[in-house]
Amino acid sequence: MVIDDVSRTYPASAGPAAGVFGICAELTAGSFVTLSGPSGSGKSTLLNLVAALDHPTSGRIVVDGRDIAAAPERERAEYRLRLVGCLFQDAPLIGELSVANNVVLPGLLARSDRREARGRAQELLDRVGLSRQSAMFPAQLSVGQRQRAAFARALMNRPRLLLADEPTGNLDRATGRQVMELVAGAQAEGCTVVVVTHDPEIAAAGDQHLRLLDGHLVA
Ligand SMILES: Nc1ncnc2c1ncn2[C@@H]1O[C@H](COP(=O)(O)OP(=O)(O)OP(=O)(O)O)[C@@H](O)[C@H]1O
Ligand SMILES: [Mg+2]
Repeated sequence: MVIDDVSRTYPASAGPAAGVFGICAELTAGSFVTLSGPSGSGKSTLLNLVAALDHPTSGRIVVDGRDIAAAPERERAEYRLRLVGCLFQDAPLIGELSVANNVVLPGLLARSDRREARGRAQELLDRVGLSRQSAMFPAQLSVGQRQRAAFARALMNRPRLLLADEPTGNLDRATGRQVMELVAGAQAEGCTVVVVTHDPEIAAAGDQHLRLLDGHLVA
């Protein structure tokens, strides 16, 4: 993926120089990229652009030779569903669905074979240590368990890109380490991983380290 001179600016009412400006980066397929920077420096803004959840004000985001930023909404939705897995700090699961149904949902939206999708969801829940919780509802899980369920959901459609916005932010060190091991496992399977982190240890472990300051990449 090539991030080519990407800016996302917000109206001036958002404060002086809010957003990201002139971001250029190449994310090598299969690499582990860490993204850090102070609060408000633009990390989530950049991740949302890469996830095609938001449009840049200018610049291109090129995936497989296509500028995903300029692609029609239908193509962007397919990209989000099939190629990208997202993991957010607060692991928003759907409260009305069981854990297993939360995990299988992206598979059903992608019109995968139902039985196969259910099998994969069980396998992923197994992998994250939640097979016994699969019939429970999100409200009945601990924060760390919810984060692991969200991780399983993010991997449902075998994404090529895993975007994690401070996935260990709300977790104690041991649980945070578990989640980071899962993320590393996804990379081992060929996923390109981008992790936002404030943890210098995690940041230093990446193949590529990006640092943002006031919306600008610093070397
Ligand atoms: N929807 C929005 N409208 C207006 N301004 C926004 C919007 N989203 C983000 N911003 C501004 O853009 C800047 C970067 O925000 P962003 O959420 O990307 O920071 P961050 O690096 O993720 O911070 P944190 O570490 O606290 O999560 C901030 O000044 C923020 O106020
Ligand atoms: Mg953020």
